[in-house]
Amino acid sequence: MKKRLLVTRNLPPAVEARAARDYDAILNPDDKAMSTEELVARAQDVDALLVCVTDKLPAAAIAKLPERLKIIATFSVGTDHIDLAAAKARGIRVGSAPHGVTIATAEIAMLLILGSARRASEGERMMRARQWTGWTPMQLLGRRLDGKRLGILGLGKIGKALAQRARGFDMEIHYHNRKPLPAEEEKGAIYHPTFESLARVCDVLSLNAPATPDTRHIINAKSLAWLPKGAILVNTARGDLVNDEDLIAALKSGQVGYAGLDVYQGEPNINPGYYDLPNTFLLPHLGSGAIEARNQMGFEALDNIDAFFAGRELPFPVV
Ligand code: DGY
Repeated sequence: MKKRLLVTRNLPPAVEARAARDYDAILNPDDKAMSTEELVARAQDVDALLVCVTDKLPAAAIAKLPERLKIIATFSVGTDHIDLAAAKARGIRVGSAPHGVTIATAEIAMLLILGSARRASEGERMMRARQWTGWTPMQLLGRRLDGKRLGILGLGKIGKALAQRARGFDMEIHYHNRKPLPAEEEKGAIYHPTFESLARVCDVLSLNAPATPDTRHIINAKSLAWLPKGAILVNTARGDLVNDEDLIAALKSGQVGYAGLDVYQGEPNINPGYYDLPNTFLLPHLGSGAIEARNQMGFEALDNIDAFFAGRELPFPVV
């Protein structure tokens, strides 16, 4: 008999087709987002969950999952929406989708860097407001990227994919990780042993680190003051890394010249202070929003579930 799988959101057709082929799958064709309470209620007669970043599973929710449910696969590289310690304590395995997002998210980081440096969203807004009165030599002057220093906080898979793309724009790559990478992985990027040392040299700072208790609000008034005045900040990682009030103050004062943001604290109810600032380029968490990425994410999530029921180790284990 097929195992019963709850898929919480509407996923790409190829992913849903595989889920329906291999499982007694409960799909969500209308993509109605579930509250944590609804998710727990619907999970009562299933053997596995395929969840997304919008599904919050704190310890209290994990405690109410049925005994038969021992595998949660998330359609994401990030796992901060799941209380992993609570899952582990209940003997529930959690697997992620770590590879599908990489190139797509690096592309969005590059888009935010370019869009911020060249003021693309201001130009777009001007056009759509029918306010363009013609070319002028000083209109919406931005900055070129060549020769500028790109600091990457977190040179992991996505950070490396971003570095590769930024090298194509002749940027000089700097990074901070807990430890330096081997030379073949650094590919010439300059290591900084502290975040402060990195921040002090950045023309552009890109956040590519996961949300953890250590990185929460790592962008705050103190660290923003380390940046050279007018630097660009780009975030495609997690909103939790940024203290919004401090960033908004720095954007108003000009300490930060521009922010390109794809992720926010409290999504989708973001700090409204961002909306009215001219020097922000805002996207709605589009990082992995490419069909190639979303297919791969779904297949990685299903690979975890398949392996679990086949008695094999998960290919992409988290706990
Ligand atoms: C992830 O995979 O964690 C992303 O945020 C979803 O796009």
